[in-house]
Amino acid sequence: MALITYIVINTIIRVFYSIPIRRESLIHRMSSYRPYSIKGKVALVTGASAGIGEACAWRLAEAGCNIVLLARRADRLEVLKKSLVEAYDVQVHCVVMDVRDTNALQALPQTLPVAFQNIDILVNNAGLALGMDTTDDVNMEDATIMLDTNVKAVVALTSVVSKGMKERNSGHIINISSVAAHESYKQGGVYCATKHALDALTVAARHDFVDTDIRVTAISPGAVKTEFSVVRFKGDEKRADDVYAGIKPLTAADIADNVVYAATRPPHVQITEINVLATYQCSARGLARVLLEK
Ligand SMILES: NC(=O)c1ccc[n+]([C@@H]2O[C@H](COP(=O)([O-])OP(=O)(O)OC[C@H]3O[C@@H](n4cnc5c(N)ncnc54)[C@H](OP(=O)(O)O)[C@@H]3O)[C@@H](O)[C@H]2O)c1
Repeated sequence: MALITYIVINTIIRVFYSIPIRRESLIHRMSSYRPYSIKGKVALVTGASAGIGEACAWRLAEAGCNIVLLARRADRLEVLKKSLVEAYDVQVHCVVMDVRDTNALQALPQTLPVAFQNIDILVNNAGLALGMDTTDDVNMEDATIMLDTNVKAVVALTSVVSKGMKERNSGHIINISSVAAHESYKQGGVYCATKHALDALTVAARHDFVDTDIRVTAISPGAVKTEFSVVRFKGDEKRADDVYAGIKPLTAADIADNVVYAATRPPHVQITEINVLATYQCSARGLARVLLEK
C-alpha cells in the first residue's frame, strides 16, 4: 500500500513539475529563431551613391559585411566609404563605373582587391526610369539607357559574379526590381519592360541554381522617395515632388530593410520576392492622396 501511495504521489509531482518545464522549452524553441549572420561576407552594391543602394550599403555594413560600392559619382562613394568605415569598422572598396560598360563589368571580379574578389551578396540595384513616353512617341536614347542599365548590366554582372558563387557553392543574388515588374502602366512602357525582364532573369536564375546553395531574391518596391523621380523628370524637382504628394512614400531605408531581411534568413530559406508598397498605395499608379485632404 505504501509503495502504491509512493508511486502515485511521485507521478503527480513529476507531472506537476514537467508542465512548466515543457512549456518553457517550447517557448525557448519558438522564440529562438536566429537570423543568419552575414558578418564578414563580401557584398557588392551597384548604384550605391544614392537612394536604395546607399541605404543597402549602410545596413549591410551594420550587419558586418565588407562592401564594394559601385556607381559613377566618385565623390559620393568616397564620402560613403569614409562614413561606413568609421561607423562599423568594415572594409569598403569603391568602384567608379558606368554599369553600361559591359567589358568593365565582366572584368570586375578579378580587378577587385583580393579581399573583395569572392562576392557573397550581389545587390543589383543600379537602375533608372527616364521620361514618361507613350508607345507612339518613344525617345530611343532614353529607352536604350534604361534597357542597358536595368537589364543588360544585370545580365553581365550577374553572369560573372555567379560563376564564382557556383564554384564556391554559395551566394545570394538580390535584384532590386519594382512593382513595374508585375504591372505595366500608361507612359511607362520601356521602364516596365525592363523590370518585367528583370523579373524573368530572377526567376530563370533560380531555376539555373536550384541544385546549389545560391539564393536568388527580387525586392519589388512601389513608391520610394529617392532621386528616382528627379532623374525620371530630368531635374524637374516640382514634378518629382508631385509623385509623392499626399502620401507617405516608402524610404530607401525601408527597402534596405527588406534586403537585409532576405540576406539574413537561414541558408535553407530562400526569399523569392518581397512586394512592398506605401500604405496609401494599392498598385503602381493607385495612390490615394489622403494627406492632401488633411
Ligand atoms: N524610387 C522608387 O520609387 C523605386 C521603385 C521601384 C524600384 N526602384 C528601383 O530601385 C533602384 C534604385 O533606385 P533609387 O530609387 O535608389 O534611385 P536613385 O536615388 O536615383 O539611385 C539610383 C542609383 O543608381 C546608380 N546608377 C544609375 N545609372 C547608373 C549607371 N549607368 N552606372 C552606375 N550606376 C548607375 C546611381 O548612381 P550614379 O548616378 O552615381 O551612377 C544611383 O546610385 C532602381 O533599380 C529602381 O528602378 C525604385
